[in-house]
Formats: sequence, structure tokens, C-alpha cells
Amino acid sequence: MQVAPSILSADFGHLARDVEAICEGGCDFVHVDVMDGHFVPNLTIGPVVVSAVSKAATKPLDIHLMVENNTFFVDLFAPLKPEFISFHIEEEKHPHRLVQHIRSLGIRPALVLNPHMPPESIEFLLEDVDMVLLMSVNPGFGGQKFISNVVERTKRLKALIEKINPNCLIEVDGGVNDVNVKALAEAGVDVVVAGSFVYKHPKGIATAIAALK
Ligand code: DX5
Ligand code: ZN
Repeated sequence: MQVAPSILSADFGHLARDVEAICEGGCDFVHVDVMDGHFVPNLTIGPVVVSAVSKAATKPLDIHLMVENNTFFVDLFAPLKPEFISFHIEEEKHPHRLVQHIRSLGIRPALVLNPHMPPESIEFLLEDVDMVLLMSVNPGFGGQKFISNVVERTKRLKALIEKINPNCLIEVDGGVNDVNVKALAEAGVDVVVAGSFVYKHPKGIATAIAALK
């Protein structure tokens, strides 16, 4: 299991320190939640802060857009050369065009599905993306309760991926901990995002990441 801690649960007064801590603690990606106050009822960070995150990080960035006007934000973050940029399918009128645009910038495109969205809705996009992120909470906030329908959605997505694009990764985001990660691994998840579990673990960040792995 690869682990992408969400810096949404970091101490923003000591952001560089908290980014360094997850990288030294063995994470695979640094998950960056970009919220615009429109697509979701929360507002987080823009390119100035993400640039500072990028400088502190020794692992690749995984940028999760929760915004309206996806293309505008893709172009804003592209100069930081993240590994992935993922966008919500619910918000995008022309997802295939945006996938191609992200790829043309040298960034790996990923799609995000909210908890109500069936994996079959993206069947005809799967051959063009490198990752699908299944939300296991409603986007907007860290520390929410895990919505367990993601296990069934993962199994259905895995079946489609095996048929269409076996290299495509499955990522799950929201309420992940050392208990529910087992069912996620069995269902075929490749990458878990975890914010509060990693940053608030009583035995520290490295122990939390190791427990998820
Ligand atoms: C929610 C974000 C998540 C969140 C995860 O909108 O996309 O990345 O911060 O935090 P936890 O693991 O605390 O649910
Ligand atoms: Zn996220």
C-alpha cells in the first residue's frame, strides 16, 4: 500500500516542518487539498503556499483539486511539476479534454469520484488516466467518518481497470485508518490518503504511515 498523507491536517504555522516529517516518515506522495470555497464549503491554499510545500517536500506532490474552473487551477499549479493532478468529474463539462491537457503539461492525470458516483460513469475515460481517486467522505474537510460504500466501488472499479487499463492506480481519500485500510487493500486500492490518522497519531507520523502500509 502506498501512502499519501494529506497536509490538510498539518500545523499550517509549521508547514515546512510538517511536510518534511511525512517525507522522512516514509510517505510515497504528499497529498495537497486545494479547495476554492465554491465547489466545496472550505477554502485552503493556492500556488504561493503549494510552492513552499513543494520546496520542503522530498516526495512527489499529489494535487487534489476541489474547485470550480478546473483548467484555471491546473494551469496555476502546473509550473510546480506535481506527479498527479486530480479533478472532480462532477464539476467538469469536458473531462476528456482536461485529461489530455494535464497530460500535455507532463503531469499524470487523475479523476476523482464523490461517494455517490458509480465507477462505471468513467468507463470511457479510464484508458487515458493514470489514477482514479474514490472519495470515502464528502470532500471539504479532514477528520470525517469513513463512508464504507467505497469498498464495493473499489471492487467495481478494479474490474473495469483490469479490463481497460491495468496500469491505472486506485486511490481512496477520507477517513482512512489502520482498521479500514485492510478492506481497501483486499479490494484493490493502491494508494491511501490519510490526514488526521497520520498527523494526529499518538505514536507519531512514521508509526502511522508504517501501520497503513
Ligand atoms: C477531504 C480531503 C481529504 C482529507 C483527508 O476533502 O480530500 O484529503 O483531508 O483527511 P482525513 O484522513 O482526516 O479524512
Ligand atoms: Zn484529498
